[in-house]
Formats: sequence, C-alpha cells, structure tokens
Amino acid sequence: MPSFAHITGWGMSVPEKILTNDDLSKTVDTNDKWIRERTGIRERRIAADNQTTSSLAVEASLKALQVANLRPTDLDLIICSTSTPEHIFPATASLVQDRIGATKAGAFDLSAACSGFIYAINMAAQSIRSGSMQNALVIGSETLSRFVDWQDRNTCILFGDGAGAFVLQSSDMPGGVLSAVMHSDGSGGDSLILQGGGSKHPATEATVRAGKHYIEMDGREVFRFATRVMAGATREALEAAELEMEDVKWIIPHQANYRIIEAAARGLKLPIERFVINVERYGNTSTASIPIATVEAIEDGRLKPGDTIVLVGFGAGLTWGALVAEWTGPLPSERKIYPARYRLWARIRSFLRRVVRFIEGMIWGRRA
Ligand code: ACO
Repeated sequence: MPSFAHITGWGMSVPEKILTNDDLSKTVDTNDKWIRERTGIRERRIAADNQTTSSLAVEASLKALQVANLRPTDLDLIICSTSTPEHIFPATASLVQDRIGATKAGAFDLSAACSGFIYAINMAAQSIRSGSMQNALVIGSETLSRFVDWQDRNTCILFGDGAGAFVLQSSDMPGGVLSAVMHSDGSGGDSLILQGGGSKHPATEATVRAGKHYIEMDGREVFRFATRVMAGATREALEAAELEMEDVKWIIPHQANYRIIEAAARGLKLPIERFVINVERYGNTSTASIPIATVEAIEDGRLKPGDTIVLVGFGAGLTWGALVAEWTGPLPSERKIYPARYRLWARIRSFLRRVVRFIEGMIWGRRA
C-alpha cells in the first residue's frame, strides 16, 4: 500500500525581545519610514543571551510533537534546516535530538539558507513515502542576530531570530505533501554570503578584523533574483502536483520583503490577500520564516485541514524551491502524549550518558 507524508504537528518559538525600527534608528543611520516602505518590516525578535539556535528549535519541536500527539521516542528522523547552526559540528539537529530525548532518531542539519525548510520537508516526505520511516521532525531555526553587523544598515534592518517545526507522519490516507521542486544556482553565491569561519577563510584575527564573520549581501541582486523565481517555482510545483492555481487556498512565501511577495503575487496574477504575510513582525528569519507564518495562519483560523497550500522560498546559494501540500492536522489517536515531560527524562538520560563516558575515560584512559 502506498504511504503518504502528512504534516500532523506544528510549533513555533520566537524570542521575547522585540527590536523596532525606531530602536534601530538610534544606533544606525536609518529610519522607520525607509524600512517600512522598502521592506514592510516594523520589528523583529532578537534572541536573549541564553537562547541559541537549538534552544529555540527545542521549544518549537516540543510544541509540534504536542500537536501531533507523538512521543519524541517515536521519531525516526530529525532534520534541522539552519544557516546559523550552533557549531560547524556537531549538527544542531543532534543537540535537539538529545534535548528532547528522541532516542531512535537519526539527525542532521540541512544548509540551503532560506529555502532550507522546503528542501528539508521534501527530504523527510520522500523518506516517509519510500516506506523507510514513519515519523520525522523538520525544524527551521535561526539566530541571525549573531551574524549580523549591527553597523551595516543594508543588512541589520532585515533579519530576526526564531524557529518553527513540523512533524511529518506516514499514513495510507491520500494527501499531505503532494509535490516539491528544488533549485540552485551557485554562480550567484557571492550575492549573499558569510565568508568567515569556513574552510576557505578559517577564523583568524584578520578575518574578524575584516568583518568576514558577518552576513554580506548585494540587496538589489538578491531582490531581482527573488522576484524572478518565486512565481515560476510556485507554478512548477503545482504542475508536478497536477493542480491548478484555483485549487490553492494559501500561498505561504518566505518572509524576506513585502515588495518581493507583492511581485510574486503580480507574477501569479493573484491578489495579495491569498498570501500569508507576517514579515512586518518578525523580519526575515530565514529558514524559520515559512513554518512561523504557517503556524500563525493555523492559530488564527485561516489555514484549516483539507486546504491546499503552496510553500515557496528563495535564499543564499542561490537556492529556491516550492512545495504543494494538502493540510492534514493530527492523525487520529487514542492515547494522549505530553512530549514536554520527556524533557526532564532526556536531561537525566543525557547526564547519565556523559557520566558513563567519563567513567569509560577513567578506565580506558584519555588522550591528553
Ligand atoms: N536606511 C536608510 N537608507 C538605506 C538603508 C537603510 N537601512 N539601506 C540602504 N539605504 C540607502 C542606500 O544607501 C541607497 O542610497 P543611495 O541611493 O544614496 O545609494 C538607497 O537607500 C537605496 O538602496 P537600495 O539598496 O537600492 O534599496 P532597495 O530598494 O534595493 O532596498 C533592500 C534594499 C531592502 C535590501 C532590498 O534590496 C531587498 O530586500 N533585497 C533582498 C534582500 C533579501 O531578501 N535578502 C535575504 C535573502 S534570504 C536568505 O538567504 C537569508
């Protein structure tokens, strides 16, 4: 029997701290009017010192598991899409796996910038449809505020922090993720880049002094690229799903700039009201922006089970992609699960594993 990959859980987590355009205008040469007119952004969230990409991801993930009514131990796979991982390695997904106690899940990070969430959902859905796994957690999480030069008005006005997560589950009921398209054009890699700290420019005093640990962007170039690809990718994904635009209830685009979304709406000859937009409150949270917008659309009653949606995004790479899904909601289940309770158990388990590793080190000796 064929299996389908349904989106059965969702959650988001954003930091409490709000940074408004007026706040920004006190530290850098900009103003609220310019930012609102050029981007649609009014404010963004900024992670507190004790918040990280994995801590935001854990909060969003536990909420998604709660909605799906699924134990962390039921997960087969965790994909964390992020451009601001906690470390180059280990993967942020593995940190989440440990903190939520997903004992049997494989975990890896996916780097496709703002298109990453679409790529990651597609990978998880393909794995489920192949029959090789039942339950997957897909996270988009970012702490972009840690990689922004707060003196660079070209970039610092745009980005914010946050996380969103979906649970995908196998079911023989038709629906769920219906199609996806993914694209890349690495020839445009320089137009949005973070150079420092990778193997080409390992972090040194000189790279830090040159500001290579900050996001560098050619805004106009990225703008042109984004307005070119959004409508095309949406059409392509619909064609792959054998659906028409009339079948779609909501388009949920990457939230980078209101004007880019307007251009996509014009390209698709759709009224802007068909798009879920919240860029004004969060700015560009990169790969987290699509799941955050989706969660808000569910919570305010716009998105309902049975609706067909298109997720569409673009980002550094350059990458872009789109995905069509029929919105499902939680699968029927008799039991009531409280995933957050696994957190304490996961902490104890993680501590015990560290103790065991320490004792093994005493027995077998340590290097240096
Ligand atoms: N405040 C005031 N003035 C500003 C600011 C600012 N924050 N930033 C730039 N300006 C000035 C510029 O210096 C320029 O002045 P000049 O004409 O005297 O040279 C003028 O405003 C116009 O600048 P542009 O860069 O042409 O402004 P534009 O209308 O293109 O808007 C923006 C800039 C908002 C960055 C736009 O190009 C954009 O949104 N690009 C896409 C960016 C994007 O989406 N990036 C994320 C991709 S997703 C990912 O992978 C993370």
